[in-house]
Amino acid sequence: MLDVRGLETTAASEAAVRNFDATMAQYLRFGLDTGDCLKRTLTEDPEMALAHCVKGYFFMLFCVPALTGKARASLEAGRRSVAERGATDRERLHLEALDAWNRGEFEQAVGHLEAILAGHPRDILALKIAHYLYFYLGDNANHRDSIGRALHAWDDTVDGYGYVLGMQAFSLEESGAYAEAERAGRAAVERNPADLWAVHAVAHVMEMQDRRREGIAWIRESEPQLGDCNNFGYHVWWHLALFHLELDEVEPVLRLYDERMRADLSDEYLDICNATSMLWRLEERGVDVGDRWNELAERCEARTSDHQMVFPDVHYMFALAAGGRDAAVERMLDSMRAFAEGSATEQRVMREAGVPIGRAIAHWYRGEYAEVVDVLAPVRYRLPLIGGSHAQRDLFHQVLIAAALASGRHETARALLSERAARKPRNPWTWKRYARALVEFDDDEGAVQARDTAARLLAA
Ligand SMILES: [Fe+2]
Repeated sequence: MLDVRGLETTAASEAAVRNFDATMAQYLRFGLDTGDCLKRTLTEDPEMALAHCVKGYFFMLFCVPALTGKARASLEAGRRSVAERGATDRERLHLEALDAWNRGEFEQAVGHLEAILAGHPRDILALKIAHYLYFYLGDNANHRDSIGRALHAWDDTVDGYGYVLGMQAFSLEESGAYAEAERAGRAAVERNPADLWAVHAVAHVMEMQDRRREGIAWIRESEPQLGDCNNFGYHVWWHLALFHLELDEVEPVLRLYDERMRADLSDEYLDICNATSMLWRLEERGVDVGDRWNELAERCEARTSDHQMVFPDVHYMFALAAGGRDAAVERMLDSMRAFAEGSATEQRVMREAGVPIGRAIAHWYRGEYAEVVDVLAPVRYRLPLIGGSHAQRDLFHQVLIAAALASGRHETARALLSERAARKPRNPWTWKRYARALVEFDDDEGAVQARDTAARLLAA
């Protein structure tokens, strides 16, 4: 059978392939029907290898140990199908990629996906999963270029082209090519306003360029689509809250937090990452967040030995430490150190960056700010290893700067803020703290200028 993009697909019926196409279409737009479409695919053909593989990928995307186990079962089901009825090389490679990912070998997994894409550049599933894995590998160059390598096979005549433009937009943004990223992202949204990944990519450009009011208007335009998507919508709301926060508009941030980001108190890792990073930012600005940490800490108590990826792990650490769960903090640090002994992708990342970040967070909540600087400063250029976006990882740069200020490491604070002001000249948070650092050097004129700059930017 041929799928909607002309790729040979092993399936028992045309109906199974059409349902598979629908599954991909829903997945690409974060559709609420994604799981149901996949179920229908497997009802039409209970042995369809690629459908089992996708089921395994979906389990992996949840990033929790229990579902990683279920992904293994999907892999076995896919392999049984291949043994019984055969499969294309492409399908076999997908199962290899799932196997590698499931074993925690992210680089191997993307290797298999790249092998698919070399021969089948229209395999949008391979593109999307590679896009996800390169993102969490912090491999910006491949994140960008894996899309570029496939683009020769795409244009408006190929179903899903807009989604490829959306992926290209996000990867360009993470590579710092903001103008090109915005162009690709807007082109994708023009083709399909429901392409939230592309909407999100353009929001990232605006975030990186400190175009706060534009960012708010941009996300508000997509509000109808946000009512009709899965939990990824909460991350888009997080971006909206971030724009408001940077305008010192606390009230809408708390409202978005309660009514959108944590509306259903979800357990999904990205939702917890959104929430913890927003609460830290609020508190650092002196906002009373009430008992909001408690609910997050409760959830994270059960995740101290998850270690599916370092990125969520360190966000769980915020919740535990902020929520005063001291025993869980120690338990999680011990577990992170033990995990860091291994050689799989995230085990190495844990060793290189995860353990120091985890320790820094624990120090922060014990008021040991000098220790935060000592632990975090040496790894700050290794932060991309944990994956996530620049906007998300900015949290750790802010922690470092705030700790330098709080611990009286004035030279470090001044240097970091000078660096940040050069890189993000339109960021009021930076200028306000820069003013504080300059006062310590009796540079009153510089401090007044920095404060004025912050005020001017906030009013703009
Ligand atoms: Fe984002």
